[in-house]
Amino acid sequence: MPIANGFLLPTEIPDEKFFDLSVGLCRSCAMVQLTNVLNRDQLFHDSYAFFSSTSEGMKRHFKEMAASLTARYLENSEPLVVEIGSNDGIFLSNFIGTNVRVLGVEPSANVAAVAVSKGVRTVSKFFDEQLASKVVNEDGKADLIVGANVLCHIPYLNSVFAGVRTLLKTQGALVFEDPYVGDIIKKTSYDQIYDEHAFYFSILAVSAVCSRHDLEVFDVEPQTVHGGSMRYHIGIRGARPVSIAVSALMEQERSAGLDRLETFETFRKNVENSRTELLSILQKLKAEGARISGYGATSKSTTVLNYCGIGTNYIEFICDTTPGKQGRLTPGSHIPVVPYGAFAEKYPEYAVLFAWNHSNEILAKEVNFKNAGGRFITYVPAVGILK
Ligand code: SAH
Ligand code: TMP
Repeated sequence: MPIANGFLLPTEIPDEKFFDLSVGLCRSCAMVQLTNVLNRDQLFHDSYAFFSSTSEGMKRHFKEMAASLTARYLENSEPLVVEIGSNDGIFLSNFIGTNVRVLGVEPSANVAAVAVSKGVRTVSKFFDEQLASKVVNEDGKADLIVGANVLCHIPYLNSVFAGVRTLLKTQGALVFEDPYVGDIIKKTSYDQIYDEHAFYFSILAVSAVCSRHDLEVFDVEPQTVHGGSMRYHIGIRGARPVSIAVSALMEQERSAGLDRLETFETFRKNVENSRTELLSILQKLKAEGARISGYGATSKSTTVLNYCGIGTNYIEFICDTTPGKQGRLTPGSHIPVVPYGAFAEKYPEYAVLFAWNHSNEILAKEVNFKNAGGRFITYVPAVGILK
């Protein structure tokens, strides 16, 4: 596989890097994880391609999250919220003008600069145990530590949890959410598997990590975002009552076999079938002379395109609203990424919905494409052409 967010210029093709992408299940703690991870500086740097605020739906999601966590955890007079992976400030900007002190920790300097320009205090560093001690020295301990779609990106997870333990106040909470392995299995959303996602969390695995650091999960809340995520509430062991939702989810995971290899063998077969079905639709449409584009040059699409062997043989271009991806080629498959306007000016007959996790938002706004006879092709939770 190439680097999932490594959108490149044609001149960079000869130097493009590839690596082996494979996933394993830990037999002792049930963590699903990449068996081979890349160096963090190769992934997160000053030209990181993903800007969280490109999605209106995610802006709403984080606004609601800020309101809900404020009511639950931020009753002190000047509480401190530290966010790991704060990106362009999509979550922390909700606290501007309030009594809440914030600090974003965001190593990708270009996205961190956008947060700073919005007035969100941000340090452009990787969060780990060392950084946590530095924050304690400079700002004191945190009432709330938040991480959305980031802890699953961090292979040195034990250092992160040790840092959380150091940084949290006695009654403080770490609240984090990531794509949920139960949904990945259920929906065959194998495109969540790419270099940046070192872990595919379950509560069984998250609890095992917590127990190594004197922490415990005291609540869980399923989320619909990113194709199905889980929000974990974690505190210092014994500090808060543990919700019944925690043991219920553990039970559910055991009965779904999320701690057993056979479950993942079945998943593998489902993934292979998904590839066969998607290719057969594309081959058929292409044979009929249809014009096919892609919608959303997501990092997830890199897995699908490269695993299925889809390039410009099937897909003419992929439109994406992120300026930094436009004018570049998709990693490995080298399909041109074009601005949204190129899609709307001359609609193709079909568009593969690579940003399927934003499908509500996209289907609602693409009325003209639909009225022009355009159809979306999807592959999660099942391969097909949307009605
Ligand atoms: N929280 C945002 C961004 C998710 S993308 C959202 O949900 O939309 C993941 C982000 O985590 C990237 O911006 C990346 O630069 C950052 N990141 C990666 N490793 C990190 C680390 N060790 N500490 C803090 N941020 C990290
Ligand atoms: P994500 O799946 O990692 O959130 O990335 C979504 C990508 O899709 C990102 O590159 C922006 C792009 N996008 C569009 O081009 N149009 C849209 O309407 C939405 C919601 C996303």
